[in-house]
Amino acid sequence: MKLGFIGTGKITASVVTGISESKISFKKIVLSPRNKKIAKKLKNKFKKISIAKNNQEIINSCDWIFLAITPTVGEKIIKNLRFKSNQIIISFISTMTLPQLKKTIKVKAKIFRAIPLPPISLRKGPIPVFPSNKKVKSFFDKLGTTVEINNEKLSKNFWAISGMMAPFYELLSTMTNWLVKRGVKRDKAQKYITSLFVALSEDAVVNSKKDLRFLVKESQTPKGLNEQGVVELRKAGFYKSSEKTLSSILKRLNKV
Ligand SMILES: NC(=O)c1ccc[n+]([C@@H]2O[C@H](COP(=O)([O-])OP(=O)(O)OC[C@H]3O[C@@H](n4cnc5c(N)ncnc54)[C@H](OP(=O)(O)O)[C@@H]3O)[C@@H](O)[C@H]2O)c1
Repeated sequence: MKLGFIGTGKITASVVTGISESKISFKKIVLSPRNKKIAKKLKNKFKKISIAKNNQEIINSCDWIFLAITPTVGEKIIKNLRFKSNQIIISFISTMTLPQLKKTIKVKAKIFRAIPLPPISLRKGPIPVFPSNKKVKSFFDKLGTTVEINNEKLSKNFWAISGMMAPFYELLSTMTNWLVKRGVKRDKAQKYITSLFVALSEDAVVNSKKDLRFLVKESQTPKGLNEQGVVELRKAGFYKSSEKTLSSILKRLNKV
């Protein structure tokens, strides 16, 4: 299996790292020359990676093609590329719908949309995939948790949630800075915050068959610190405002 990436930016770097360190069996990975710096870094770091001269060369030499460019670039370049009907094409492009992709790609290849996120480099995290397909699922299962979606409209909700990564890190950063202001050394503060939240997340995964309200309840003792935390943040509109932000991200996604 030969894997080709059109667009070598942030998400390609994460996906290629994940693949290279996974159990996926592949013959080679071909990267586009843009971005040259990232492509060279990946080539130096991992085996079986080559850098093509141009985008068409990637399509000519690979079986699976990943579209990892921004929507504006995608709209400009995909229509000029000649794909093959026996190829599997997986688009990471946030706002190009499946009908739009099919129209632009022209040939009757198998086309999918996926939403990998940066922790895919650690082979962790959810990867929503649309439409469902055994081969594609088995590929992404080796890179994280595949979530198959059968309705494209639903996939926009997952895209909206993916806009909460930076807000999550901002929260960790705010808490770290709070500790630092009170005299804790930054490396200690970061160690504390990151190990606390990785532990809480792991616990949430272990308990993910239960309603998460269970964990909200379990982690509070009556009149305790966590009760105070959740009550005060609720009162301040912290959670309502997170919901509002999600709806506003979704609204933007629905406009395109
Ligand atoms: N980052 C994420 O967490 C994430 C997650 C899921 C999906 N996505 C989606 O994946 C896509 C890429 O996101 P990204 O964050 O990786 O963006 P990015 O870091 O900006 O990467 C896009 C890459 O496309 C390259 N490019 C520009 N014009 C090109 C052309 N004509 N041919 C080939 N490559 C070209 C750019 O190269 P230059 O640097 O040389 O301009 C850049 O390296 C977007 O549609 C995004 O919505 C991103």
